[in-house]
Order: sequence, then C-alpha cells, then structure tokens
Amino acid sequence: MSVRSFLTVADLSPAELHGVLELAAKPPETLGRPLAGQGVALIFEKPSNRTRHSSEIAVVQLGGHPVYTRGEEIGFDVREPVEDVARILAGYHGVIAARVFEHSVLERMRAVSAVAIVNLLSDLHHPLQAIADVLAMRADLADLADLAGRRVAWIGDYNNVARSLGEALVALGAHLVVATPVGFGPSPDELGRLNALGAGEVSWVEDPVDAVTQADAVHTDTWVSMGQEADKAERIRRFDGYRVTTALMDQALEHACFYHCLPAYRGVEVDAAVIDGPRSRVIPQGHRRLDAARAVLAFVVANSAREVPR
Ligand code: CP
Ligand code: NVA
Repeated sequence: MSVRSFLTVADLSPAELHGVLELAAKPPETLGRPLAGQGVALIFEKPSNRTRHSSEIAVVQLGGHPVYTRGEEIGFDVREPVEDVARILAGYHGVIAARVFEHSVLERMRAVSAVAIVNLLSDLHHPLQAIADVLAMRADLADLADLAGRRVAWIGDYNNVARSLGEALVALGAHLVVATPVGFGPSPDELGRLNALGAGEVSWVEDPVDAVTQADAVHTDTWVSMGQEADKAERIRRFDGYRVTTALMDQALEHACFYHCLPAYRGVEVDAAVIDGPRSRVIPQGHRRLDAARAVLAFVVANSAREVPR
C-alpha cells in the first residue's frame, strides 16, 4: 500500500469522495482511534481560526496528538529545504498537514514524505473547505438527498475555495456556475480540466444574476485572499457589482441558502442583511469543518502504509 495524501479534492475518485462524505457523517466515536500513539504536524504559514481548531480537535477525536507550528518557525526554504522538513516530520508524525502560500510546497512534501500530506489551504486549493461545503449543502437540501443535478452559484472571485468546490461538485454530478468579472474566472483550460473530473459541470458567466437564477445554493468568499493584500484596493474596485445582496439572493430558488467559508467582510463581498439573515448557513457550514477534517484524516491514515526509513 502506498501513501495517500490529500492536496486537492481531485485526488479522490468520485467513489472515494462519496466514501469520505459517508465517513464525515458518522459519529466520531464510531471511527475508532486510528491515530492512537501518533502525532499530526499542523503547519500554518497563514492565519487561521476554523482550520486550526477543527484540525486539532479532529486529531484528538481520532486518538492522536496535534502539534501546531507557525510557518515562520519551520521556514520552508529559508531555514531548511521543504524536503528536509517533510522527511524529518514523517519520522515523528502519522500525518503532516500544512497551510501554505505556494501549492508547490505541498507537492514537494508529498514527493518525499513517508506519511500522508494534507492541504489545509494553499493559493490554489482548499479541499477541506469543499468537503464541509458539500456536507452543509447536503444537510440543507436534505429532501434532495444528493447534490447530483443541482445548480450552485459562486459569486465573486474564482479562488482556492471556488476551485475546490468546483472539483467536488463535478465529481458529485452537480453544476457550479461561477460569476466573476472578466479576467477573474476559470480559464478555458481550467474549465476543461474541471469538466473532465466527473459527471457534473463548471461554467462561467459574467453576470451574477445569470449565475443565481434557478440556483439551489449561493456561495461567495472574500475578494482579497491571504497573500493578495497588496492588491486590495484594486481588487475591491474590480469586483464592484459582485456583492451578494438580498436582491441577488431573491433571484435564486426560494429554498437556496447562502454559504461563505469565512472570514467574511460585511459590506464588501456580502451584505450584512444576507450573511446575518435567515438564508445564511455560514455557522453550521463552519461547524462542518470538524466533520470534514476527521473524515479526511481517517481516510488518508486508512489508505497509507507508513514506511519511514531508519
Ligand atoms: N474557512 C477557513 O479556512 O477559515 P480559517 O482561515 O479561519 O481557517
Ligand atoms: N480565499 C480565502 C479563504 C480563507 C479561508 C483565502 O485564501 O484567504
């Protein structure tokens, strides 16, 4: 058995994604203690609330011991090469999880690590968030049983969270309609890549109203992701017209709820009346992060053989 890392949602086949979603729905005590006696390294090059706390508690629920380290202390390629960090930590821990500026850091760790690497957010992907987003929507659309055939709107910036959500929804047979200003959406190549991942679809439109019309759910995220702060003023100017307002929500299907991975900026990408209003599901969505973290950790540990050279 080889090592199964989780850097992107597309690292899972559609069948494996269904399996992870089933694991996430199980009460924690039914998963046993697959991390008993093992550590999990949690490295953060960027700030976090949800991801750090949900990951630490998920490790504890699986019987392991989380060890948090700030990126500055590790110093990827500053204090020592990424590969040396991964090779050393694999001797102490059952899993290495990291939030990084550059996705390639995770790929370099995966290339040399004897234990699974888990992506806690990179510039390109946020796969644990996508698992939680799917869990939240499935719970809210319970009468629909599954997301297959459903239409999900993404408004604003096509970023790491949107990319991972797109990968998940294509695998599950749903349709993600992304509305962004010209130049901020998925490229034709990216659309081609996504649409080859499963039975679902990702498409791009410029007009947010076109995206939310007939939508079963509406998502957005910050227009200024971590690492883009220098471009903040320009980005806010370019995204003018893409704020999720009550009027925009009213164009979606009546049962459509509002989702945001958080942290959110009220009055920027979303009006307070929406995110604090009756259609908002952002708090239960955030709580699903714990289920997502536990399921993914259990999956990678169950599918990995740890072979640390001595
Ligand atoms: N949604 C999310 O990843 O939140 P944090 O940045 O607080 O971890
Ligand atoms: N797109 C955001 C997500 C934060 C959880 C960022 O990368 O900062």
